[in-house]
Amino acid sequence: MANWVTGKVTNITNWTDSLFSIKLRAPIERFTAGQFAKLALEVGGERIQRAYSYINAPNDDNLEFYLVTVPKGKLSPQLATLQAGDEVLVTEQAAGFFVLDEVPDCQNLWMLSTGTGIGPYLSILQQGNDLERFENIILVHAVRREQDLSYLPLMRQLQKTFQGKLRVQTIVSREQCQNSLMGRIPALIENGEMESAIGLTMQAENSHVMLCGNPQMVRDTQQLLKEQRGMIKHLRRKPGHVTSEQYW
Ligand SMILES: Cc1cc2nc3c(=O)[nH]c(=O)nc-3n(C[C@H](O)[C@H](O)[C@H](O)COP(=O)(O)OP(=O)(O)OC[C@H]3O[C@@H](n4cnc5c(N)ncnc54)[C@H](O)[C@@H]3O)c2cc1C
Ligand SMILES: NC(=O)c1ccc[n+]([C@@H]2O[C@H](COP(=O)([O-])OP(=O)(O)OC[C@H]3O[C@@H](n4cnc5c(N)ncnc54)[C@H](OP(=O)(O)O)[C@@H]3O)[C@@H](O)[C@H]2O)c1
Repeated sequence: MANWVTGKVTNITNWTDSLFSIKLRAPIERFTAGQFAKLALEVGGERIQRAYSYINAPNDDNLEFYLVTVPKGKLSPQLATLQAGDEVLVTEQAAGFFVLDEVPDCQNLWMLSTGTGIGPYLSILQQGNDLERFENIILVHAVRREQDLSYLPLMRQLQKTFQGKLRVQTIVSREQCQNSLMGRIPALIENGEMESAIGLTMQAENSHVMLCGNPQMVRDTQQLLKEQRGMIKHLRRKPGHVTSEQYW
């Protein structure tokens, strides 16, 4: 049974009509970068709880979550109405295995995301620990429209901090825009466009691929990597090249 603590919302940022971030303070136990908490509200006398990835580094007490309002969703539209000063329940202990401890050493670490799936990578990179074992890290954020690239300024700031070790690539699927590739992650891997834009290769011999966000993107990319690149799911008992987290 999860232990719940009360969090106090300190800030809400509305990025677009459907994307927003919640900052809150809550007496949680320390989490590992890449993990998620559950947030809950009482809705009509019923406690509704859902998983949300931490974006902040574990040593930062300003807990931060990045959300999309799912039309007709039970909880996300309610969370979208929160304001500074409101209370929200948070699990005291975080959960999840989408963490660097589960990723083997390699030359190129690919962090691929759609939508709010960028979250765990922002936590891992803001913390910055245990990254010496990768020569290159490639952070990819794929969204529908350019306006959905809410964390691009933070991604650019991290790129500067890492001084050449971190490369950043954005992908926009529903409009043409400068500095972004157009299309979807699996198609851009299949036709080689992603690797040529970044200048690094994604091969079983040199890479590990992390996938986070839309479950169909995760499945399609896993299948492509297996069929085209011979890259398979990484398990503790059977090492491979792909680690993933699906959001629904
Ligand atoms: C490990 C994990 C981490 C997660 N982290 C985040 C996060 O950081 N930010 C975030 O916004 N969500 C995240 N989610 C999804 C989140 O837990 C909820 O599922 C989401 O907020 C919808 O809840 P709801 O009650 O509003 O919708 P529900 O009433 O539960 O409706 C669910 C339906 O909405 C759709 N859906 C669910 N999540 C999404 C989504 N993110 N984008 C598009 N469609 C969706 C699916 O069709 C799903 O069947 C995560 C999920 C998991 C399992
Ligand atoms: N983002 C918005 O502005 C917006 C507005 C209103 C409502 N919503 C709702 O919010 C929810 C989430 O939207 P979202 O934009 O955050 O997430 P999303 O629908 O998962 O889209 C994010 C990115 O993932 C891509 N994608 C989808 N399926 C894929 C697949 N099988 N393989 C590879 N890539 C794939 C999308 O490409 P495609 O564009 O090709 O699908 C898009 O570039 C949805 O329920 C949506 O209806 C979103």
